Amino acid sequence: MANTQFLTLNNGEKMPIIGIGTWQASDEEIETAIDQALEAGYRHIDTAPVYGNEQAIGRVLKRWLDAGKVKREELFIVTKLPPIANRPHEVEPTIKKSLADLQLDYVDMYLIHTPFTVFINEDGSFKVDEEGLMIPDVSTDHAATWLEMEKLVANGLTKSIGISNFSKEQVARLLKNCKIPPATNQIEHHVYLQQRDLVDFCKSKNVVITAYAPLGSKGIAKFNAGANLVRDLPDLMDIPEVKEMAASHGKTPAQVLLRWIIETGNVAIPKSTNPDRLKQNFNVFDFKLTEEEVAKLSALDKNIRVCDFAFFHGIERHPEFTFKNQYTN
Ligand code: A2P
Repeated sequence: MANTQFLTLNNGEKMPIIGIGTWQASDEEIETAIDQALEAGYRHIDTAPVYGNEQAIGRVLKRWLDAGKVKREELFIVTKLPPIANRPHEVEPTIKKSLADLQLDYVDMYLIHTPFTVFINEDGSFKVDEEGLMIPDVSTDHAATWLEMEKLVANGLTKSIGISNFSKEQVARLLKNCKIPPATNQIEHHVYLQQRDLVDFCKSKNVVITAYAPLGSKGIAKFNAGANLVRDLPDLMDIPEVKEMAASHGKTPAQVLLRWIIETGNVAIPKSTNPDRLKQNFNVFDFKLTEEEVAKLSALDKNIRVCDFAFFHGIERHPEFTFKNQYTN
């Protein structure tokens, strides 16, 4: 087994605590990056149909599996039910499409990507009203969709099921209406958006937190600009406390940020398509922050949400959309 560490989920499955995030990478970039990530020891790969790269990832996985360089049971592959398909009858066909693209018989974790649902037109574009705002599909029913998610476990299409971007209230409601509790809630989580209430609640219910944007998702700037959103996003790797700790451990700011996530009991999925940086992000098992350092980082919370979904113009009209947007557009 590669040099990685695991958390045990509420169903007994083991999840590597560092995975590679894959949002916002071209097919070419991602094929190279996944190859390099597997070489570096990553076994946990986080993707989604929305990222448009499942086929590219599938090609790399097939090469590695066919060559016997990795065994299927060593991999931990996560993908998601997209917001355009967040309806009970779409669960099974949608995972089957992902499995075909990934060239796998099963995934290790299947997540409901967002608590809300949107409509698309026949050409795949989002359905919008005359003002250009997305038309929310208010029929979203988490319990009904979850029933179909549970069937995927029984049918062997995924080992575990979970949710993403769910609020505390949404997690609590789902827990009251499920047979299989979600194994993880994948949320934005970093020193500037700690969401402690949600994190503590999930932990108390044995729902592991998977931290997306653990390094502050700098790459989102390009995406926001494309959606005409003005965002002055913080650079987490430039926080003085983080830089100081990095220097004192002989590590990088990114490694300190990841260590804080690990040491507070969570899973992190940093995205990188750069060979040095992706290696760096996996090379976090040979040092430890002190209790004081962890406490210092835990005191940095500023409630700054980087991935606020404002690029889904109009999504705030959906009753299951709960993010508070701190920006003006
Ligand atoms: P790149 O892919 O060029 O490395 P997040 O995981 O929080 O979404 O952040 C990913 C962003 O941070 C990407 O823009 C990525 O760019 C960059 N990044 C990833 N790892 C590191 C690192 N170790 N140091 C600096 N920047 C990083």
